[in-house]
Amino acid sequence: MRLLAVDHPLVAHKLTVLRNVRTDSPTFRRLADELVTLLAYEATREARVDTVEIETPVARTTGVKLSSPKPLIVPILRAGLGMLDGMARLVPTAEVGFLGMIRDEDTLQATTYATRLPDDLTGRQCYVLDPMLATGGTLAAAVRFLVERGADDITAVCLLAAPEGVQHLDDETRELGVPVTVVTAAVDERLNEKGYIVPGLGDAGDRLYGVVD
Ligand code: URA
Repeated sequence: MRLLAVDHPLVAHKLTVLRNVRTDSPTFRRLADELVTLLAYEATREARVDTVEIETPVARTTGVKLSSPKPLIVPILRAGLGMLDGMARLVPTAEVGFLGMIRDEDTLQATTYATRLPDDLTGRQCYVLDPMLATGGTLAAAVRFLVERGADDITAVCLLAAPEGVQHLDDETRELGVPVTVVTAAVDERLNEKGYIVPGLGDAGDRLYGVVD
């Protein structure tokens, strides 16, 4: 598995505002959106392209366009939805599929409660959006799900990651035979006993959309 922690002053600045407990929900949503667009730029470095011939007003030349099949963006509900616009802004021709996954707060196990994705992902590059790579259970399950449908290149875009989650995801995806990349704004210190990233930014879903009991 490849891990890229994006080292850029704008990324660090936006992440600092997101971490701040005093940042309100509207500001959090806007900053998360901007941060994802910066991460998306790095996440799409290996996007597949085809060579095309075009004519400028001055001469014929060659350029590139994104290959078919189109990339698939997969936000993991609920918090991944807050990353969708920021990603789709950079790749507007991508298709979007949805995976609803929830983490049991006691066992920290991920279960899937909703799927809305093409059945056949053969040859697809997939960009999974999940703000917090904490234990890695949710992302590992999502990657496995996409590989079973034929995806052959998967990049997870996360606002933050914990070392434990990175290790777990690496362990769980090594045997799949598909390249997996994680692009994140930072790898934090650790997980606490409740499975929260420390120092982290709290519950990403709650900070984006408010607390749901
Ligand atoms: N999910 C979150 O929203 N925050 C964490 O710190 C860990 C998991």
